[in-house]
Amino acid sequence: MASHLLVVASLLVIACAMVTAFEPSPLQDFCVADPTSSAKVNGLACLDPKMVQANHFSFSGLHIPGNTSNSLGSAVSPVFVGQLPGLNTLGISMARIDYAPWGLIPPHTHPRATEILTVLEGKLLVGFVTSNPENRLITKVLEKGDVFVFPIGLVHFQRNVGYGSAFSISALSSQNAGVVLIPNTLFGSTPSIPGDILAKALQVDKSVIEKLQAQF
Ligand SMILES: *[C@@H]1O[C@H](CO)[C@@H](O)[C@H](O)[C@H]1NC(C)=O
Repeated sequence: MASHLLVVASLLVIACAMVTAFEPSPLQDFCVADPTSSAKVNGLACLDPKMVQANHFSFSGLHIPGNTSNSLGSAVSPVFVGQLPGLNTLGISMARIDYAPWGLIPPHTHPRATEILTVLEGKLLVGFVTSNPENRLITKVLEKGDVFVFPIGLVHFQRNVGYGSAFSISALSSQNAGVVLIPNTLFGSTPSIPGDILAKALQVDKSVIEKLQAQF
């Protein structure tokens, strides 16, 4: 009986530790980010609550389409803590993403957030890949009004597969989700990952790697 209690207690401790492995719960009503503070904390230091205004909790312009005239044909309009200081310590943020016809958000991960996306215009092919060793690709074509979730840390992508332009809104479970773009990480780092490492990792000739590195 006592050992059962111990197991339950241990599981509870583990569950709590897992919850707090994400963003910590606020210890006050709000902690509006003070970007001028030199204090080094996890997140950003709090503005004096007496200085806080309604605008600190607000962002405008998400109705405006982003400029998708680029090689990927997509544009991200972030509303992270950098754009909306009131998000600091709240563990949440959002973004608008615009897609030209065939526009792409390339394979990437958010190290600190799960993402939930809804299509407001157009048609998107979305997908993510599960971790090793399965590496299973899970995809779906989303129509206007459909919602899809990308679990935290997993590599995912979005592509416009409709006839016109498309846009979606994402919510993320971090004030600052972070973005790791797989192509840029592998082939566009500064300094570069040595070519022989990538050649062996990807099982191709070093000249293929040099060609890819030249793209980024
Ligand atoms: C969109 O971006 C392109 C490429 O940077 C630029 O030439 C164009 O002027 C921009 N369009 C608008 C409406 O800002």
